[in-house]
Order: sequence, then structure tokens, then C-alpha cells
Amino acid sequence: MSKRKVTVVGAGFVGATAAQRLVEKQLADVVLIDIVEGLPQGKALDMMQSAAVEGFDTKIIGTNDYQDTANSDVVIITAGIARKPGMSRDDLLNTNSQIVGGVTEQIAKYSPNAIIIVVSNPLDVMTQLAWRKSGFPANRVIGMAGVLDSARYARFIAEALECSIKDVRAMVLGGHGDTMVPVPQYSTVNGIPITELLPKDKIDAINTRTKNGGAEIVSLLKTGSAYYAPSSSAVAMAEAVLLDSNRILPCCALLSGEYGVNDLYCGVPVALGKNGVNKIIQLELSADELSALQNSVAAVRELAGKL
Ligand code: APR
Repeated sequence: MSKRKVTVVGAGFVGATAAQRLVEKQLADVVLIDIVEGLPQGKALDMMQSAAVEGFDTKIIGTNDYQDTANSDVVIITAGIARKPGMSRDDLLNTNSQIVGGVTEQIAKYSPNAIIIVVSNPLDVMTQLAWRKSGFPANRVIGMAGVLDSARYARFIAEALECSIKDVRAMVLGGHGDTMVPVPQYSTVNGIPITELLPKDKIDAINTRTKNGGAEIVSLLKTGSAYYAPSSSAVAMAEAVLLDSNRILPCCALLSGEYGVNDLYCGVPVALGKNGVNKIIQLELSADELSALQNSVAAVRELAGKL
């Protein structure tokens, strides 16, 4: 079997940590690319030198040249600036749209068959932009947000119930911003909805903490945003593609009528395999959940309109 190839664009906190997880899990050989000279090369060398200790046979190189990324199976885009305290993800729009737009053109040129996973914020709009700039079919351009938001939700559920995180499945829909929609009825502990396990006020508090999960970390770090859980989440999506596992993960995908939404990227559960999005799963939602999702969709559409 030929080795799989993953390019990670952006050798900052999220990108470098994603690259580390990919090589340590031996999922693929990795090309780490950044605009800053020396940064991806130095990090890649350092990671390669951990191979003897960690015991992985996968390879990583660092580069500033898109030719080295040619024919990647998966490309994870983390290039851009991260937010600082007091900033929302939406404040990154102008800077990151220039960066993500330019990066995507290069990626599409050198890896015309790749699956693109966008991580740069504001996530839903950057994913939509990458889809347009790439010219790829929508199933091959997806955004990472729901896996992260659901992972945060799962962590807070496990903490509240003092149960194993392995038994928790959590679901967060909508845009990756203040309007995201945690869905308690589809968030379970070994199949039992949390609505049967926790009182409403506790669930409401967990939902609020989930929505502010990124901001809570930004306010503690002060100089940047989260990267351990974001990189885990992006790699989980890459793994589903590389292994063609058809996992159902909440991802930012192009909606064409699903949930009553047309021509907009937003977070929904999808089945993910080697072709990217195989299917968008339509959940039955309560009237309140549907209206929260519509509110989130409206916020994403408004931001997309500013591009
Ligand atoms: N091409 C390639 N790399 C670029 C470009 C570009 N045009 N512009 C910027 N970069 C690189 C920077 O040089 C930097 O190394 O992107 C990297 C971003 O890394 P960090 O500043 O550490 O930011 P990080 O925490 O990794 O977040 C990256 O992911 O979660 C989102 O909101 C976050 O949009 C942000 C992105």
C-alpha cells in the first residue's frame, strides 16, 4: 500500500500539533508548510528526531514551497491569525480570508484530488471561501468545528456526571461561534440522553460553557487560542477520511436544502470517508432547537455577506 500524504498548512500551534498527532499515530507522511521561512523546517526536523523515541516510521518535512505538497490525499488548513482576549472569531475575517483564499488556490493547483479540512477562523465562512477558491466539489471541502465543540461539550458532561468520557457522545450543531447549538437530546452517556441524567439548569450551564469554550481558553492564554483539542479534532476528521471509516462526525459542510438551508456552509452531522462527505445526516429537532439552528445559520450568512 502506498503511503498516504497529508499537508498541514500553517506551522503554528494548531498546525504543528496536528502534524505531531498525525505522524505519531502513523496515519500518513506529513508536509508542514508555512509562509515563515525556517519555522516548518525546524519543527519538522525536531519532530523527526522524536521518531526514535516515540517509535514511528512516518515522515514529516517542513517547507515553504507548495510543490512539496503535490498530490496530498488530505490538506488541513490552519494558516491565519488566532484571536486574542476580547476578540471574537469573526474579528479575524479580513485577515484570514486573504490568507485562506491564497493558500487554497495553491493547494488546489498542486493537489487537485485532495480532501480539504479547514480549521482557520471564522470557520464556517473560511470553509465556504476555500470551497469557492478551490473549485472542488463540496463533498471534498469540509470545516473542523463540530468535532471540537462536541468534544468540549462531552468533557463538561463527563465532569458533571463523574462518568467516563469514553461513554459520552455529544452533539453540537450550527456555526462555530457564539450561536452554536448544543443538542442535549442527541448527547448521551452510553445511549442515555443527558436530559434523563442531569437537571435542566445544569444542562443549561454546560451548554453556555460549551458555547464559550474557546473564549474561556483565550482569556487564560492571553496570547493566542486553543490548539490541543482543535488539532485532535482536525486529525480525527483526517483519520476518518484516510481510513475511509464513514464515521458520523459533526462537521461544517455545504447545505443544499438540509435543515431548510441552501448554499451555506454550517455545522451538521456528516458521514465522513475517503470521498469526504458521503452523507449529511438530518436529525429530528425540537422547535426550540430548530429555531436556535436557524439563528446560528442567520449569523453565519450575515458574516459570509461581509466577505
Ligand atoms: N501561508 C501559510 N502559512 C501562513 C500564512 C500563509 N499565507 N499566513 C500565516 N501563516 C501561518 C503563520 O506564519 C503561523 O505560523 O499560520 C500560522 C498560524 O499559527 P498561530 O499563529 O500559532 O495560530 P494557531 O493558534 O495555530 O491558529 C491558527 O486556527 O483555530 C484557528 O482561530 C485559529 O485562525 C486560527 C488558526
